[in-house]
Amino acid sequence: MKIILGTLFAGILVAATATPFPALAGGGVPPDLEAGQTLAESRCAHCHAVGRDGKSPVAAAPAFRHLGRKWPVENLAEALAEGIVVGHPAMPAIAFSPTEIDDFLAWLQVIQEQ
Ligand code: HEC
Repeated sequence: MKIILGTLFAGILVAATATPFPALAGGGVPPDLEAGQTLAESRCAHCHAVGRDGKSPVAAAPAFRHLGRKWPVENLAEALAEGIVVGHPAMPAIAFSPTEIDDFLAWLQVIQEQ
C-alpha cells in the first residue's frame, strides 16, 4: 500500500509540473508572454502588424495573428534560432536566443486568429 501511494504521489507531481508548452528551447523555464510581446513590438512591429488587430505597416509583411493559418507557429522556432531569412530583401535576418524564442512563440500562439 505504501508503495502504491508513493507511486500515485509521484504521478501527481509530474502532472502538476508538466508544462503546457512542450517545445521549450530555453531549458524548461516557463515562457514570459509579456517579454514575447515586447520582442515583437521592438523588433518586428515596424513592418508587421503584431497585435490582435490592425494592418501591417509594410503591406507585404503578413500580420502575426495570421501566421498560424499557414503552419503551426512553433515551426518558426528553427527559423528564429537561425535568423529568419525569407526570400524578400525587406525582411532582415534576425536571430533570437532560445529564451526569446520560447517567449515569442508562446505569445504568438496566444494572438493567433483561426
Ligand atoms: C523591415 C521589415 C520587416 C521586419 C523588421 C520584420 N519583417 Fe517579417 N517580413 C517582412 C516582409 C516584407 C515579409 C514578406 C516576405 C515575403 O512574403 O516575401 C515578411 C515575412 C515574414 C514571415 C514569413 C511569413 C510567411 O507567411 O511566409 C515571418 C515568419 C516573419 N516575417 C517574421 C518576422 C519576425 C518574427 C520579425 C521580428 C523578429 C520580423 N518578421 C521582422 C518584413 C519585415
